[in-house]
Amino acid sequence: MAAAADLEDVPSVDLMSELLRRMKCATKPDKRLILIGPPGSGKGTQSPIIKDEYCLCHLATGDMLRAAVAAKTPLGIKAKEAMEKGALVSDDLVVGIIDDALKKPSCQKGFILDGFPRTVVQAQKLDEMLDKRGVKVDKVLNFAIDDAILEERITGRWIHPSSGRTYHSKFAPPKVPGVDDVSGEPLVQRKDDTAVVLKSRLEAFHKQTEPVIDYYSKKGVVANLPAEKPPPEVTTEVKKFLVTFIRICQQKVSILRESTSRHRFRFGYTELQTVSVHFVCKRLNTVFAS
Ligand code: AP5
Repeated sequence: MAAAADLEDVPSVDLMSELLRRMKCATKPDKRLILIGPPGSGKGTQSPIIKDEYCLCHLATGDMLRAAVAAKTPLGIKAKEAMEKGALVSDDLVVGIIDDALKKPSCQKGFILDGFPRTVVQAQKLDEMLDKRGVKVDKVLNFAIDDAILEERITGRWIHPSSGRTYHSKFAPPKVPGVDDVSGEPLVQRKDDTAVVLKSRLEAFHKQTEPVIDYYSKKGVVANLPAEKPPPEVTTEVKKFLVTFIRICQQKVSILRESTSRHRFRFGYTELQTVSVHFVCKRLNTVFAS
């Protein structure tokens, strides 16, 4: 009842556009993606683009933790010190927030995890969470980049906190310096975006997060991206990997349908004939993830 009362206050135009979005999204295949890479490698820049195109939810543990710190919640109070130093927050805290977030309706078609998992323990816990839901990680996009490029990217970054839009004073400047292009609200810089804190963040990345790339490489789901290229070129590379992934899946479904057709009387698989390629693809995409 409470949910219905809340919806009464939502403007019709917003309800209709959300309905249209959900109808459009219904035909998209499910996808579970992880974006991994050092600070400033472009994960947060690429995520909103993939999120909208593939109807996925975007879960950025850094953003969630910063919101908790700003709101001074018990989680934020525990996380604050580690974040300011550029160290990682404890595994238990971040695993808890991801487990809760994955239950959201917006994550129904899949997710983009940005900044999680960052340790092998977090990766193992994620596998356990997904096992319980009967799904797997489809692709891990590794934003490969030289450390030397990152200081300029990090120290020039400007953020619009409420939307998450990111700018860069040199590489992606806003139309008016210090002001968000869409809302006209002020942009801010992150407390940990300094050359000194970056050193600790990079150290944490090499020591604790690089082993996560090996963890997923052994599962054969890692795709390496040339993250030093300009943003539009990185977007093209990301899309190439995702499109290839869908194509491989659909090819395999076609083969399955053909063989089903040949053997349908023998094995009684007629019902499969009526199932759309998309639906079968959705069921098989975790099995055939290349
Ligand atoms: P988090 O917020 O996740 O920070 P991060 O991983 O350090 O990543 P960034 O957000 O700095 O980089 P990005 O790759 O998103 O870069 P962006 O696209 O913005 O984590 C912060 C802290 O939270 C951690 O230190 C830790 O304490 C804690 N934490 C979070 N998750 C945790 C976890 N799972 N476990 C434990 N602790 C956790 O790009 C950067 C800039 O470069 C922008 O200005 C952008 O415009 C520009 N840019 C982007 N792409 C390009 C390009 N191709 N060419 C030129 N410029 C570009």
